[in-house]
Amino acid sequence: MSNVKKQTKSLVGNRNLVVVSNRLPVDHFVNDSGQESWVKAPGGLVTAVEPIVQEMGCLWIGWAGGPDISLETFQIDNMQLATVSLSSEDIAEYYEGFSNGTIWPLYHDVITPPRFHREWWDAYKRVNQKFADRIAAEAKPNSIVWIHDYQLQLVPAMLREQRQDLTIAFFMHIPFPARAIFAQLPWRRQIVEGLLGADVIGFQRVQDANSFRAVVERYTAYPSYGNIVMVTDAGDGSQRQVLAQEFPISIDFNFFSELASREDIRKRASEIRADLGNPEKIILGVDRLDYTKGIHHRLKAYEELLADAETGSTVLVQVASPSRERVEAYKVLRNEIEVTVGRINGQYGSIGRTPVVYLHQGFSREEMAALYVAADVLLVTALRDGMNLVAKEYIASRGDSTGVLILSEFTGSADELRQALLVNPHDIEGLKAAIVRAVHMPNSEQQRRMTALRKVVSENDVSNWASNFLRAVTTASKWGEISETENFSKDLAFAAPAFIPKSIEAKLRRMATADSLTLALDFDGTLAPLVKHPSQARILPRAQHALEILQRSPGVQIALLTGRSLASIMETGVQTDGWIVSGSHGAELDEVTAKQFLEANLSAMLTPESLSEEEVERVEKLVNRVSRVFGSEKGVYLEPKPFGVAIHTRQVPDPENAEDILEAAAEMGKAAGLEVRVGKMVRELSIRRNDKGQVLSGIRTLNPHAPVLFIGDDVTDEDAFAVLKHSDLGIKVGAGESIASERVDSPEDVAAVLAMLAEYRTGITVGSM
Ligand code: G6P
Repeated sequence: MSNVKKQTKSLVGNRNLVVVSNRLPVDHFVNDSGQESWVKAPGGLVTAVEPIVQEMGCLWIGWAGGPDISLETFQIDNMQLATVSLSSEDIAEYYEGFSNGTIWPLYHDVITPPRFHREWWDAYKRVNQKFADRIAAEAKPNSIVWIHDYQLQLVPAMLREQRQDLTIAFFMHIPFPARAIFAQLPWRRQIVEGLLGADVIGFQRVQDANSFRAVVERYTAYPSYGNIVMVTDAGDGSQRQVLAQEFPISIDFNFFSELASREDIRKRASEIRADLGNPEKIILGVDRLDYTKGIHHRLKAYEELLADAETGSTVLVQVASPSRERVEAYKVLRNEIEVTVGRINGQYGSIGRTPVVYLHQGFSREEMAALYVAADVLLVTALRDGMNLVAKEYIASRGDSTGVLILSEFTGSADELRQALLVNPHDIEGLKAAIVRAVHMPNSEQQRRMTALRKVVSENDVSNWASNFLRAVTTASKWGEISETENFSKDLAFAAPAFIPKSIEAKLRRMATADSLTLALDFDGTLAPLVKHPSQARILPRAQHALEILQRSPGVQIALLTGRSLASIMETGVQTDGWIVSGSHGAELDEVTAKQFLEANLSAMLTPESLSEEEVERVEKLVNRVSRVFGSEKGVYLEPKPFGVAIHTRQVPDPENAEDILEAAAEMGKAAGLEVRVGKMVRELSIRRNDKGQVLSGIRTLNPHAPVLFIGDDVTDEDAFAVLKHSDLGIKVGAGESIASERVDSPEDVAAVLAMLAEYRTGITVGSM
């Protein structure tokens, strides 16, 4: 069933993994004649976690969805399932009560008022203890235990008390609230301590991880350094590091993509369209029937569009799968929605036309895929949502890259899916405008947006999520072995320079804790301020110092990717011990790395020695011609390169003349069949095509799991930005068009970025110098 890439398994090595969540992926179901069966459980947690457990073949402990179900461990497909039995009272007080009547509304920004009952809290403690006991009994020595979601926040500490040999990880699928909201919870300290029993706590968004660390700061005495909280265990006073960081969850992209392209599914999609009366456009909403999903808001917007006759022949299909039906707020919501749908259809329907098709049912994945294929627009209007995987499923199902996603800003997905039509669901006028825009969006725009969205989701699919998370967990499990001196020191003052954008800071926090890390940097205009003559350029002392500290930290590889020749970069005096150094835009490599590239069978990097005689001759001729033509121009500086020559005009007094020279040089190069590289006030003519992107890809092959930070300022750095992936970070320095996701102003800011990273990774402060 699963298509998850075979990469997660290797991460845990020979250790066992145990997955724990309130709900198992299947519910136990008994029909009227007493026949038993298993049906797929609802919700995003199951969608995301199931493919991972299928791939790992590990044990999953949870509740089977009804009262008093206690079964021997059993198997479905590749999953081993073990039940934790809940009594009717447990279900009423722990599940419907504290989990879904207190925590759920509180963590979703109190959309409906949370209720605080001491009996519910007692039941929550009791059932969390039941889960902890069951895990303690099941987990083999030194296992990794991965606990999921808000129903089990006390389990990490309860488990640690019984089993210190385990590595304990926790992932929160729903938002973590701002400190001022969390403050309402009478048992706030116990919840924080419960979670801190884990070695790693994962959240969906940067904002959630930040809120959690703020709560730790307020309700405990433990200091935080970057993403690390230093916890002192109450018993023996020993210290532990807890990583609290975002790991945005995803779906099994290939599974949905392949399912949606199946012939039978496409046929079913056409049938659905025909059964709906072949409307011009089908708008789809798919949600659990939950007040966090904003179903009311979308119905209101759609109703107003019907009143204004602005929708043309569209149908809104709203799938609302039943959820938590005995909880009061859900009963009220169901009533409201059903009354509203009835009113809309009564007023705007006609014989043979139903404007809103409302389905209060759960559907198979096949039927969901057919609906996604049939839908021209997916409407996600959640008022608050940890991630929203429906949006990602829709994207994965749109193999032809058409279709429009309207997405609420208040979902975790909105952080990643920037090419969707983002809306504030409370703004009904804005929502109406987005629906009209989506319905009329030209195919070309749909394709441009959907292609970008598909790239994002396929690059960060669920196996990526699990790998990133488990890699952090296995790294964290080694922290106990780190010696005192290498460990974080709590006396260190953390300096956070104000001029680094918050978005960069968040990503640096995350990179700082990666097991291994590649830092690739351009030189001129990035590490060293631009100067009139290239020979005068010098790396800023703060950058050099930060890089020295980073270089000493285990797992960090620094790579200098410059357009200069190797000879010329060395003349600047930059200290590169232990670094990879690549010159001439990736055409030259230092000896050690060149050897590694050869051993790794990477397309052998070029060395001047590899040029044929004929090529050497062509280079010589070129250099001669260029110096004949431009050599005597005032201010022109010609820099010989191993494969050609660079013409610099930074010192030419008349800017117009400088432009003319650059243009003429480029023309000359083109006419001679050479590669022309455009830089700031420089053109480089070269016999071979190399770029920083190629060399960076090669460096990545040497250490494929290390996220890459690349910083550069010039046009030629764009090749390197272009090969960055989802978990990498690209920072452009200064103005000018760029595909980099982040930007800073100057080399001084770059030094500050490196200092911040050094500090987050090692605890050592690199002040301004
Ligand atoms: C959300 C929660 C899950 C939960 C699911 C279904 O996705 O994050 O923990 O399992 O909803 O809700 P239910 O109460 O039916 O388990």
